[in-house]
Amino acid sequence: MLSVTDLRAGYGAINILWDVSLRFPLGQLTAIIGPNGAGKTTLLRAIMGLIPVTLGDVTLDSYSLRGRNTWDMAGMGLALIPEGRMVFADMSVEDNLAMGAFPKPHRPALARNLERVFGLFPRLHERRRQLAGSLSGGEAQMLALGRGLMSEPRLLLIDEPSLGLAPVIVHEIFAILRGLKEQGVTIVLVEQNTHMALAVADSVYLMRSGRVLLNERAAAVDSQRLHDLYFAREG
Ligand SMILES: Nc1ncnc2c1ncn2[C@@H]1O[C@H](COP(=O)(O)OP(=O)(O)OP(=O)(O)O)[C@@H](O)[C@H]1O
Ligand SMILES: [Mg+2]
Repeated sequence: MLSVTDLRAGYGAINILWDVSLRFPLGQLTAIIGPNGAGKTTLLRAIMGLIPVTLGDVTLDSYSLRGRNTWDMAGMGLALIPEGRMVFADMSVEDNLAMGAFPKPHRPALARNLERVFGLFPRLHERRRQLAGSLSGGEAQMLALGRGLMSEPRLLLIDEPSLGLAPVIVHEIFAILRGLKEQGVTIVLVEQNTHMALAVADSVYLMRSGRVLLNERAAAVDSQRLHDLYFAREG
């Protein structure tokens, strides 16, 4: 279980997350939804050690991740697919993927993992020598996801993979996420596409203004209530 307990974090003097607690059971897909500025990306950054935690803790199997650097996180099997894809535009598709395998223990597995990622995304294989900067939005998202998979994560945190993509590509990416879950990968999915998120998730959290407003099994979510909480005016 990856657990976030009473977490407070933000940027310098600006606090964003107000004592949030979330549980991500191993082998499950947990979705985090919420409007712009809710603090979803900030939460993922705090979990990965990219911004400091002010109060509270992040634990994996009751082992504290607080204060660890992102490098240690990769060694423990966590990978973050950031918002906005962040591929290296001047590098080829294949070299971008190789970057994902950088932590030393994974180097011998490079060829095997390249093959696995190309199996998942045949389109990346066709374009493996193309510069990443010239990929379409959907292809760039596949590359970002593929790069995250190169380190063979057991826990994948993925930030708004559907943003700006055509429905057919969104379906393709969600099918991949479902497949990864079936292989035992634990997934934390941040999404604005509530409908798609609920369709793949085991459970869902709704965040707003740096707080958790709702946590339910995806199958039990009352969509009217979710809608009301999502769009309610700031009080
Ligand atoms: N580097 C930063 N410095 C200061 N404030 C920031 C920084 N990054 C984000 N924020 C602020 O933190 C708040 C939460 O942002 P965050 O990116 O976590 O939201 P989000 O839920 O991911 O939104 P979106 O759905 O638009 O991606 C926002 O008010 C944002 O302006
Ligand atoms: Mg965000």
